[in-house]
Amino acid sequence: MEQILESIKQLKREKNAAILAHYYTVAQVQDLADCVGDSLALAQEAVKLNNDLVVMCGVHFMGETVKILSPDKKVLLPDMRASCSLAESCEYSKFKQLVDEHKGYTVISYVNTSAAVKSLTDICCTSSNALAIVKGLPRSEKILFAPDRNLGDYIKSQTGRDDMVIWDGACHVHEQFSVEKIVELKKQFPNAKVLAHPECKRPVLILADKTGSTAALLKYSQESSSTEFIVATEPGIIHQMQRSSPHKTFIPAPPIDSTCGCNDCEFMKMITPEKLYLCLKNESPEVQVEESLRKKAEKSIVRMLEISKSLGL
Ligand code: 13P
Ligand code: SF4
Repeated sequence: MEQILESIKQLKREKNAAILAHYYTVAQVQDLADCVGDSLALAQEAVKLNNDLVVMCGVHFMGETVKILSPDKKVLLPDMRASCSLAESCEYSKFKQLVDEHKGYTVISYVNTSAAVKSLTDICCTSSNALAIVKGLPRSEKILFAPDRNLGDYIKSQTGRDDMVIWDGACHVHEQFSVEKIVELKKQFPNAKVLAHPECKRPVLILADKTGSTAALLKYSQESSSTEFIVATEPGIIHQMQRSSPHKTFIPAPPIDSTCGCNDCEFMKMITPEKLYLCLKNESPEVQVEESLRKKAEKSIVRMLEISKSLGL
């Protein structure tokens, strides 16, 4: 393994490549990256990069987002099978039908969608800015929100916008967290704070001391005076939490049905150091987005970045 990690560093230098990694990837991949972040941070970083070669260590829609924003760059994804159940839960033709049925609605889509779905979207969002984006729209504006029903439900609960139309999609990882097992853990660790991603179901969010994107949960764990945390999001984030707070204890929230006790996103875990090495060496597989689709999808992401900037996010 040491040899592979060294070879990746050498290839990265030789090819002047940038490596971006999401918090859910394996620790060794995170440690090789120039930027480790949540979906919003990775999209923001993508537009700042000067490198012609970018490797996205994350899932397919993240690579697509970089390519949409930077069409002249070569964007690589170490494993093209790294999909996302949430993005897959929103199929283009069915989504188009819903959009067509809701003329006059502002379409807000989570970044966890295909480029095709983004092309039907007015404003993209991530878990870091979704609530702020919806809050920033006039109360009279009608909203169609996609694809995550749990994030949509959370936004409804925080804004009282009960008329928001929400696509019925979900992330199989975040829907798996067990309320009963979190309650059991709270008995064992009564001082532990529960951290939850808004893609979790409402009963889990009700138990949470902090609900937020991966970046927001990381920040909370750093700033909190508590020393124990039950983490209800993909456990890859614990690597950064533990790194910045080595004296604190992070307990992964268990899924409803598992023998291993953790709730890994198998798509994120497809991005291994071995595949990263091969990808850099062969400059393949490469993410491609057809130009007319790219232009249509770009508008919604650029709008999100502009709003985020104006909100200081
Ligand atoms: P973040 O927006 O927190 O990066 O979450 C992305 C994601 O895929 C959550 O499952
Ligand atoms: Fe998609 Fe869920 Fe994996 Fe995030 S954790 S990449 S939403 S499948």
